[in-house]
Amino acid sequence: MAEVVIVRDADEAGELAADAILALVARKPDAVLGLATGSTPLSVYRAIAARHVDLSRVRGFALDEYVGLPDDHPESYRAVITRDVVGPLGLTPELIAVPGHLGPIETAGEDYEAAIIAAGGIDIQILGLGTDGHIGFNEPGSSFGSLTRVKTLTRRTREDNARFFASIDDVPVNCITQGLGTIRRAGHLLLLAFGASKADAVVAALEGPVTASAPGSAIQLHPHVTVLIDEAAASGLHNVEYYRYAWANKPAWEGL
Ligand code: F6R
Repeated sequence: MAEVVIVRDADEAGELAADAILALVARKPDAVLGLATGSTPLSVYRAIAARHVDLSRVRGFALDEYVGLPDDHPESYRAVITRDVVGPLGLTPELIAVPGHLGPIETAGEDYEAAIIAAGGIDIQILGLGTDGHIGFNEPGSSFGSLTRVKTLTRRTREDNARFFASIDDVPVNCITQGLGTIRRAGHLLLLAFGASKADAVVAALEGPVTASAPGSAIQLHPHVTVLIDEAAASGLHNVEYYRYAWANKPAWEGL
């Protein structure tokens, strides 16, 4: 089962995630990271940036991207990754890929999968969780075997993301996302969620049945998952006491 760590706040989660990511990079300087966007992973990127480690050989694959935004749109995930991740962490732009930008959109899914495979696969995949239960932009109903492809965002996701745009009408309807199958191939999943708005999706992902109706539940099929959540996001979980007990008794030699 996933290791569930209930943290004080997003900053503590960011430090723990940074520990795991930088331990990986110390072992493997050209490690391959899966990069989520949105608000949730920002504390991870901040914590990594503050440690001033040389990450120039690290390779990265963004989790998803909107389809239909102009190339220079500031809220495209390519722009967000460049601004919030590549710059602050000192990554090498040529080593960071964002789906939908490698060639024509018709073959963008296959092209992205081929690029991930050519890189040797993703070592650590950072994930947020949508209020409707999505990971990446795999909305409820997505196949557990799905690979990178163009999808349609739910109204709820578009409402959630309208804060980044002038209005909901400006939020694209289509997206391209790593599939649940792609995510499940990554070596280690780091799922983060903060705030009460994520509590239902956290329960569904961690303790609900494994079902395409709750895409986050795909993590239950993965052998190495770390979940970093605050009290509010953990508020609906049944096994909180066990999660705390397991974390308190974690062998010192074991990393995340
Ligand atoms: C972003 C992504 C999404 C977000 C999710 C939560 O790359 O794949 O799954 O992680 O929508 O968004 P925030 O973090 O903004 O609450």
